[in-house]
Amino acid sequence: MKKLHLLIVFLISSIMAFAGEGMWIPMLLQYNEKEMQEMGMRITADDIYSINHSSLKDAIVLFGGGCTGEIVSDYGLLLTNHHCGYDWIQKHSSVEHDYLTNGFWAMDRSQELPCPGLTVTILREMRDVTEKVTFNVNDDMEEKERQQLIDENMKKLIAEVEKTTDYKVSIKPYFLGNEYYLLLNEVFTDVRLVGCPPSNIGKFGGDTDNWVWPRHTGDFSVFRVYADKDGHPATYSADNVPYKPAKHLDVSLKGADEGDFAFVFGYPARTSEYLPAVAVDQEANVIDPIAVRLRGEILDIYNQYQEQDRKVRIQYASKHAGLGNGWKKWMGVTEGINHFHGVEKKRFYEESFQDWCYQSRQRYLYINLLKQFDEKYKALEPYKVAYTYLTNAGLNIEIFDFAGNFNKLSKFTADTPSEEVEQTIASLKKASAAFFKDYYQPIDEEVAKTMLREYLEHQSADFRPSFLNEIKDVDAYVEILFKKSMFASEEKVNDFLDNFKPKHLKKLQKDPALLAYQSMIDFYLDVVNPKMKPINDDLARMQRLYMKGQMLMEPEKRFSPDANFTLRVTYGKVEGFKPQDGKNYRHFTTLEGIMEKENPDIYDYVVEPRLKELYNNKDYGRYADKDGTMHVAFTASVHTTGGNSGSPILNADGQLLGLNFDRCWEGTMSDLIYDPDICRNISVDIRYVLFIMDKFAGAKHLVDEMTIVE
Ligand code: ARG
Ligand code: GLU
Repeated sequence: MKKLHLLIVFLISSIMAFAGEGMWIPMLLQYNEKEMQEMGMRITADDIYSINHSSLKDAIVLFGGGCTGEIVSDYGLLLTNHHCGYDWIQKHSSVEHDYLTNGFWAMDRSQELPCPGLTVTILREMRDVTEKVTFNVNDDMEEKERQQLIDENMKKLIAEVEKTTDYKVSIKPYFLGNEYYLLLNEVFTDVRLVGCPPSNIGKFGGDTDNWVWPRHTGDFSVFRVYADKDGHPATYSADNVPYKPAKHLDVSLKGADEGDFAFVFGYPARTSEYLPAVAVDQEANVIDPIAVRLRGEILDIYNQYQEQDRKVRIQYASKHAGLGNGWKKWMGVTEGINHFHGVEKKRFYEESFQDWCYQSRQRYLYINLLKQFDEKYKALEPYKVAYTYLTNAGLNIEIFDFAGNFNKLSKFTADTPSEEVEQTIASLKKASAAFFKDYYQPIDEEVAKTMLREYLEHQSADFRPSFLNEIKDVDAYVEILFKKSMFASEEKVNDFLDNFKPKHLKKLQKDPALLAYQSMIDFYLDVVNPKMKPINDDLARMQRLYMKGQMLMEPEKRFSPDANFTLRVTYGKVEGFKPQDGKNYRHFTTLEGIMEKENPDIYDYVVEPRLKELYNNKDYGRYADKDGTMHVAFTASVHTTGGNSGSPILNADGQLLGLNFDRCWEGTMSDLIYDPDICRNISVDIRYVLFIMDKFAGAKHLVDEMTIVE
């Protein structure tokens, strides 16, 4: 039996170590160099990350707070995804200048649009500070005392380093708190919008194609980083100059063939690869399916109304995108985990871990971990479920969520300073205008009925907000709610805000939508959170120990730390996949596919006339593939997650091949378990990006700034 286990452990470990999996710390890349070179890489780890000379890392940025970008010229020219630049494009759009619909191109630098609030962060250096941060700390300590010591050590260390540098200093835990790294970052605050394609290109396929391969989205936008005359970050000024990076990425026009080595360099946000089986099972088979079912019902209601009415389609487009993104992803997680037998494989691994624990007395810290995981996760489950209902059913009833904006006001008294009242009223007026612009009451009424019914059917009285326990007839409750609550009527809300007097507070305090919102919040604060918090605190400690135990058990294995929104390198191959028996996906798509998908009646599939013209004339210039077609997107077996949007995907020479923007839904389980057979990231081909800039938009001057390798 033991032999069998060892064999399985070996098999799993070797799968885990298989190229493709792992989000590697750039400063430790020398440990991966050999494997990367064996897979085809022609550069060195030192070319990718170095603090002694310029390296690729100097061209990689954290774009805003949630995406990655890369610098592609000596004049601070930056590429990221269209969906990452979306908010900034939208902010500059108006009816006269509808950049979302029509695209935008600055034909010279004076036309570039400042984006106050947008930051670009570049990592200058990282240092292993584990010893200093965990000084005087051990695993037998009370967790609270341990954390206090760690916090103090970090504070001291940050203060020390801050004295020696102008960079922003921070420390982040890796390997679930077993290691700590200090990061020195430079934060640029003058970033300008340079260009973006029309949404028909940048969002082609929209939500219908989101998470799906084959894909044809030209998901890119262009910005420029500015600095003061000395190249230092500065707030916006007309005197600022384009930032000259220590290194910019070269752009390859050669494309990539099946099997070619490729790597992604960027900012993955969060993965959980070291969870015990019980947690993966719970996520994939309890929590995600509930969220998928609830969101699916809401999306069905949206669809039904969106199909009937153009205005409603636009009003609910962004809400649909938001709900649909998680809905499709979690469906993929469940399917992938079960199809790949992820839970069983983790269980096998855990049995061998348990055997390892029994082999030495010194492993006492780990011996009960797995048993305790099972207990803790079981104890957590009803509250996690309750939380899932709260966020996916309760708070997706728009009238409740909107009423929540008035919660603060409802707590005011006659003594609240008038200045604070005025400010609150002013911001509520804004919130109200924004809400009603995109609100269609029949949808919300139907969502309310459906979600409340779900709630009453599936959650017992102790696991739902108290207002639900007074509802006898859902239809009657919802009808009265929408009749009585002022939040159902823009007129009533405006009237209330325009003529606000403290004596009106009573009316607000009795509003049924606000009462429902408060009941949900109280349920979270009084019931859910007090139960979940202590369990989660215990779990954090146990996960840290479990991680440490795994590393001790397999000292020869290279472990990669879970994503934590810091710079990482991940690598694999350009390749297609077989998502199902009999289905075989090629690794790239072309412009022909855009023409195949074209449908002038479906918003997501409208094709720009200019793009059709270029297609008909096969006017691809030097951006065509050697097969003569225009490649649009491609897949690779590179381990990515949210936050990797906009990340460069690079070839064996470290040249830009494309911009990562999504994954295939069949492989979204890669946040929990990576399987090189079905986990694929999706990138837009850089040649399509340049083709759109140059041939479609006539912005060749931007391409001319770049270093092109033909
Ligand atoms: N699925 C991608 C992500 O997780 C892209 C989302 C934006 N695109 C969209 N069509 N909604 O962020
Ligand atoms: N679209 C995701 C993002 O915005 C990347 C896709 C993924 O989750 O892999 O970060």
